[in-house]
Amino acid sequence: MPPVDLLEVLARRRSTRRFKPEPIPEEDLEKLLFALQRAPTDASAQLYSVIRLRDPALRDEIARLSGEQEHIRQAAEFFVLLADVHRLERLLAHRGQAMAPWPRTALHFAILDAGLSGAYLALTAEALGYGVCFIGGVLNGIEALVDLLGLPPGVLPVAGLAVGVPDEEGPPRPRLPRRLVVHEDRYRPYSAEDLEEAYRAMAPYSRVGDWNRVLKRYFTQGGTMEARETPYGRALARQGFDPDLPPGAPFYSLGALLEEALREARGVLFRPGEAWLEREQEAFRGEGRPGEALLTALRKARGEIPDWP
Ligand SMILES: Cc1cc2nc3c(=O)[nH]c(=O)nc-3n(C[C@H](O)[C@H](O)[C@H](O)COP(=O)(O)O)c2cc1C
Repeated sequence: MPPVDLLEVLARRRSTRRFKPEPIPEEDLEKLLFALQRAPTDASAQLYSVIRLRDPALRDEIARLSGEQEHIRQAAEFFVLLADVHRLERLLAHRGQAMAPWPRTALHFAILDAGLSGAYLALTAEALGYGVCFIGGVLNGIEALVDLLGLPPGVLPVAGLAVGVPDEEGPPRPRLPRRLVVHEDRYRPYSAEDLEEAYRAMAPYSRVGDWNRVLKRYFTQGGTMEARETPYGRALARQGFDPDLPPGAPFYSLGALLEEALREARGVLFRPGEAWLEREQEAFRGEGRPGEALLTALRKARGEIPDWP
């Protein structure tokens, strides 16, 4: 590989959403996967995995789940970046040790590891002349994706990453003024003038010259992120990243489970190590920590599991 000027690559780079139907040669793919694994990782743990999607039908399904993003189908390669503490758990168990409960911290470092590794792969791809696009849209269908990819507890999709030969050109996209992003010594509050400056700098991002249109679409009520929140929370709980719910629980949070239980019962009673879901004539009991106990009681009340012993 000829030497590349990294700053030059950074100055020119932009996400690519149109790809030529050309494959990435094996030797370049090898470099990309090498870069993926050279990323730094907290405590040497490498709390990430990557699925390289080779099956076109699977890729098609993921493109559909991700809001019909055609570049997922078009790109020569498509990876799903995964936060992964399952492998660590297996490694510890292999030496007869149990992993401590640390679901939130685990998620923090596992998402960071997956993101860093993806970024190293992506930057190397761009340095080699390929185009890349991260795909947060995989979160749109996160629960179906967990099933499609056969992810065990402890593994969660973080983002997709499309890589291929670019079939588009364009200027780099704008960024916020540096002084709004890089603080010195202490976090500096933002003035109205700062915020105006931010909108001015980012205006070219939007076709109509108004960055707020983009932010509004994603981040205000009824927007993309709000729609992702509940399925994401359910996927977190299901994959064992919610400290208050047992792995597999199909609920956004303990609060959501409680609300659901209260819709189906006259009341819920918690005592140390147990929960009771009470109806007019009957009561169902579950054991364990509050989330586990209530889930068991609710499942019994629904007849999903037998009401004994
Ligand atoms: C975590 C993450 C998720 C993203 N998700 C998508 C996506 O689903 N679809 C897409 O077309 N671009 C996606 N992008 C690309 C961003 O839109 C892009 O990086 C941003 O607009 C800045 O543009 P630039 O990369 O060309 O500088 C994503 C980027 C990141 C880092």
